[in-house]
Amino acid sequence: MTIDQKVRKTLDELGIADAPGVEAAFAEVRAAMQAERAALIARGAASESEREKLCKDLRDRWLARKNGLLSAVDEKWLKAARKELKPSVGKSFNNLRQESAALEIAALARDVPLRKQAEANGGIPAGGSPPMAAQMYRETPSDLTLPGNRRALGTLHPVTQMQREIEEIFLNLGFHIESGPEIESVYYNFDALNIPESHPSRDDWDTLYIDSKTVLRTHTSPVQIRAMEKYGAPLHIIIPGKCYRRDNPDASHSPMFHQIEGLAIASDITFADLKGTLDFFAKRLFGQKIRTRFQPSFFPFTEPSGEVSISCIFCGGEGCRVCKESGWIEVMGCGMVHPQVLRNGGVDPEKFSGWAFGLGVDRFAMLKYDINDIQLFFQSDVRFLEQF
Ligand code: PHE
Repeated sequence: MTIDQKVRKTLDELGIADAPGVEAAFAEVRAAMQAERAALIARGAASESEREKLCKDLRDRWLARKNGLLSAVDEKWLKAARKELKPSVGKSFNNLRQESAALEIAALARDVPLRKQAEANGGIPAGGSPPMAAQMYRETPSDLTLPGNRRALGTLHPVTQMQREIEEIFLNLGFHIESGPEIESVYYNFDALNIPESHPSRDDWDTLYIDSKTVLRTHTSPVQIRAMEKYGAPLHIIIPGKCYRRDNPDASHSPMFHQIEGLAIASDITFADLKGTLDFFAKRLFGQKIRTRFQPSFFPFTEPSGEVSISCIFCGGEGCRVCKESGWIEVMGCGMVHPQVLRNGGVDPEKFSGWAFGLGVDRFAMLKYDINDIQLFFQSDVRFLEQF
């Protein structure tokens, strides 16, 4: 007996006389309903209008007020049920009604796929094919040797690229890469570097203190002391890393930024070595035409101290917006390591001398890529980052 015939007979006529029997009968109806829905989804439709018609047909078959299968169940099974069976028939019928919401046209149309034109014409024989075949056809790729979908690869952050480029130059000169902690003691960050308690940079307006003895390092110079303690002299290292200062973010300031420190210590190091090395470095990085300029400056941990400028990489020294018409761009601080700093690192200043420099990697990256806002580096905006 088909499901259509069954729902048009009363439970008495079907010989169903107890609750388990009722449940089994409803389970059969539910299964038929689900199977027809699944078959339509598997079949799909060749066009929107066909989909609408197929969905409406299935909906009407089950839910039409007149002659719908559910109306028949209501009429023949529920209304005509014997009194003692009413509660269990009522309950099952309610469940069935709830589930039948999936046969409303909108709910069906959402799930019934449209076949692509090629499939509709060529893939599936006219007159329709078994629903299962249609589904398998859709899921089989036409050429298994085609490459898969590749995920786009990211790139190194521009600051990282700049850092690596600078590292490369010094590695080729025989320097080693050293690193140290970003959470640093006041001793290494200031005292051991000869920076007196009265120095303005130690002010908590400028430095981020964790407690009275601990700071977020304000520069990479504390690693000078740590490395001297660890390796002694001679020593040729560069120290890349993050630094922190209590600055409000703007186009040229960021509370977190990147430095590379350089330190060379040996028995006969002079200021000439410093000048020669940094001039070589600038030419390697920005091109042979670049000139360097050293001007006197002051740092507590170097004596004498200098500021290094390079001839403007944008105008070649003629004067422009970037170099503020001066022809020069200041790029780093440097100097001969102060004898007290050597001593603090356990190195005898009578036997050894050294030089050091410190540069801002972010600033170098801004120069190299002509970027006018340091904040762009730290906003993680892919539209910016994917350009590098
Ligand atoms: N530490 C200095 C700064 O952060 C830079 C520097 C390093 C200067 C080494 C001289 C020698 O400004």
